[in-house]
Amino acid sequence: MRVVHFLSAWLVTKILAASTNRTIDDTNGDSMTGAIPVYQPNESGVWAGPSCVGCAIVPDTSLAHDGTWSAATYNAGLGIMNISMDFTGTAVYVFFILANFQDEGITTTTKASFSVDGVQRGTFDHVPSDSFELQYDQLVFAETGLANTPHRLVVWTVADTDIYVNFDYALYTFEDVEQNPPTTTTAQLPPTHPIASTPSTSMPMASSTKSHFSSALNIHSVLFTELIPIYLHVPALDTTSTSTSSNLYHCW
Ligand SMILES: *[C@@H]1O[C@H](CO)[C@@H](O)[C@H](O)[C@H]1NC(C)=O
Ligand SMILES: *[C@@H]1O[C@H](CO)[C@@H](O)[C@H](O)[C@H]1NC(C)=O
Ligand SMILES: *[C@@H]1O[C@H](CO)[C@@H](O)[C@H](O)[C@H]1NC(C)=O
Repeated sequence: MRVVHFLSAWLVTKILAASTNRTIDDTNGDSMTGAIPVYQPNESGVWAGPSCVGCAIVPDTSLAHDGTWSAATYNAGLGIMNISMDFTGTAVYVFFILANFQDEGITTTTKASFSVDGVQRGTFDHVPSDSFELQYDQLVFAETGLANTPHRLVVWTVADTDIYVNFDYALYTFEDVEQNPPTTTTAQLPPTHPIASTPSTSMPMASSTKSHFSSALNIHSVLFTELIPIYLHVPALDTTSTSTSSNLYHCW
């Protein structure tokens, strides 16, 4: 029965942490919100997709995500060239289509920098090979461990040479917090046990540690009744002995 409680607490934790990847397609935008990335400069002739007439590099739409891509050939005269997109989640991944040798005079070098919330987080460089093959679905940037809040990703290029940029899609990791059932932590505590609330109020612990601690209490509550007061005093003893020994050290 105690074990069942522990398992259900574990399951609740798994549900709370449920995360899924959502797609931001270059053209069709965010699969959930529909928000479309913003391409700059936005004057005509800079960014183009599969319908481009006269583009030197025409990737196979059947190999591109959603059958679309957005590409530009940067030149220093453009100043900054960039793609901005907003997402709410804890990780983001960017996928490009890369080009290799196409013909003399065709720009195939790719370079980009990546900023999240205005802070540069990475750069990417592709030196074309002698092969004619394009490379699809290429992960060029990944950033994980972001706070679960709204973020802005900017993919940008500034260079003194010509650069080819072909953005296919991005993924971001959305945390599904809507399934959060109310008051899960208190449900694990034995309702009438006097010791149960002691650890959480008198010890500064991370919430995950706290819930493990409560689960252990559930299973071994009788055994722990005598041990906990001792356990709770250990940090205090540690502090005292540390300062004592440093005092001693000074005396020597
Ligand atoms: C999201 O996609 C990235 C890149 O493909 C992958 O590494 C990661 O495990 C995925 N995350 C989830 C929650 O599916
Ligand atoms: C994006 O590029 C435009 C010019 O094309 C520039 O005005 C703008 O400041 C750039 N934004 C960022 C965040 O780099
Ligand atoms: C380019 O973007 C600006 C805002 O940044 C907007 O006012 C303008 O209408 C856009 N032009 C085109 C051609 O989309």
